[in-house]
Amino acid sequence: MKYVQKNPVPVPASGAYGSVAATIDAVFDWEYALKRQNLLGLFEKGKALNWNASELDWSTDVDPERVMKERFASGASGIMNQLLSPPRPLAQDELIRFQIHMNSFMLSQFLHGEQGALLATAKIVETVPWAEAKFYAASQVLDEARHVEVYHRYLTEKLGLSYGVHPSLQQLLDDILRDPRWDLTFLGMQILVEGLALAAFGLLRLQMTGEPLIQDITARIMADESRHVAFGVLALEDVYTHQMDQRELREREDFVIEASHLLRERLLMQPVFERLGWDVPVWVEWAQRTPFMVGFRQMTFSKIVPNLKRLGLLTPRVREAYAKMDLLRFEHEKDSIEEPEVKPPAELVQLLLQVMSQGAQPAAPAA
Ligand SMILES: [Fe+2]
Ligand SMILES: [Fe+2]
Repeated sequence: MKYVQKNPVPVPASGAYGSVAATIDAVFDWEYALKRQNLLGLFEKGKALNWNASELDWSTDVDPERVMKERFASGASGIMNQLLSPPRPLAQDELIRFQIHMNSFMLSQFLHGEQGALLATAKIVETVPWAEAKFYAASQVLDEARHVEVYHRYLTEKLGLSYGVHPSLQQLLDDILRDPRWDLTFLGMQILVEGLALAAFGLLRLQMTGEPLIQDITARIMADESRHVAFGVLALEDVYTHQMDQRELREREDFVIEASHLLRERLLMQPVFERLGWDVPVWVEWAQRTPFMVGFRQMTFSKIVPNLKRLGLLTPRVREAYAKMDLLRFEHEKDSIEEPEVKPPAELVQLLLQVMSQGAQPAAPAA
C-alpha cells in the first residue's frame, strides 16, 4: 500500500531505532504432533479471515473537528464539563482540542503497541515449543504488520497528529521482548497488552462515532485481536494450571502486577497535557482522580481480569493488587474463550452515549 507520509510520527529522544538485547532459545518441533486442535482451528481462521489494508476507503474525508463541532452544537459541552469535571471549566474549542489530542494519543500508543506485538509474536514463532503454535503465531505476525501499516497511515495521512511511544509502554514492550521465557511473551503481549487494547478499541469506536474510516479499521483490527488474545489463553491455560510449581507461578504473579501498573500509567496521558501547554501536575492529578478517567482506566482491564482468572493467575497476591486498583469487579465477566467479542461495560456505554447523542439535554457546566 503506497501512501504519502505527510505528518511523521515523533521519534523518541533515544533515537529512531531502539534495540533490546534478548537471549532466547529458538526451538524446533521435530515431532510435528499437531495435536492441539484448538490452535489448529485458530490457524485456519487466521488464514481465512485475512484482509488487506488497501480494501479500506482511504478517500474518506477525516475531519474530527467538524464531527465534534456538530456534536457540540447540540449542547454536549455542558455535559462534557459535567462528565469530565476538569480543574477549570473548558470552553468548547478547548474540549474539542482535548478530545482530538486524547484520541490521537490513544491511537498513537496503539500503533506503537502493534509494533511491539509484531516483534513479540515473531519471537514467539521461534520460542514456543509446539509447531501448531508456531503456525498460528506466524499468521499473527502478518496481522500485526498490517495493523502497524493501517494505524500509521491513519495517523500520518488522515489525522495528521500523532505522539511518540509513551515511556511506560516502551518499558513494558522492552521487558516483554527481553525475557527469554516464551510464556512470559504470551502473558505480557497476548494477555495484557492486547487484552487492554481490545477493551480500549471498543471505547474508541464509541467515542469516534461519525468517522466511518476509523470505525472500519477498528472493527477489522478488533476481530484479529480477539483471536490473538484467545491464542494467548489457549497456549497458556494448561501450562499455568498444571505444569508450573509455586516458585514459577510467583514470578508470573510479579510480572502481572508490575505490568498492570505500567499499563495504567500510560493512561494518565501526561504527554497530552504537555502538548496542549496545560499545567501538567494539575491535570495529571485530575486524571488520577476524576471518576470518568478512573472509570476509563478500569474498563480497559475488563477482558484482562477474566482471562487471568481462567489462567489460574488471579491468585491471592494478584487479587490483592487488583483490589487496590478496583479491578476485581470484572472477575465474573466472560473470558476470551467464552466470549471472544468485547463489549464495553454498560455503565461507560451509557455515559458516552449521553454525551454523543445528538439532541442530548444540555446540563449546566461544572463550577
Ligand atoms: Fe495487532
Ligand atoms: Fe494482536
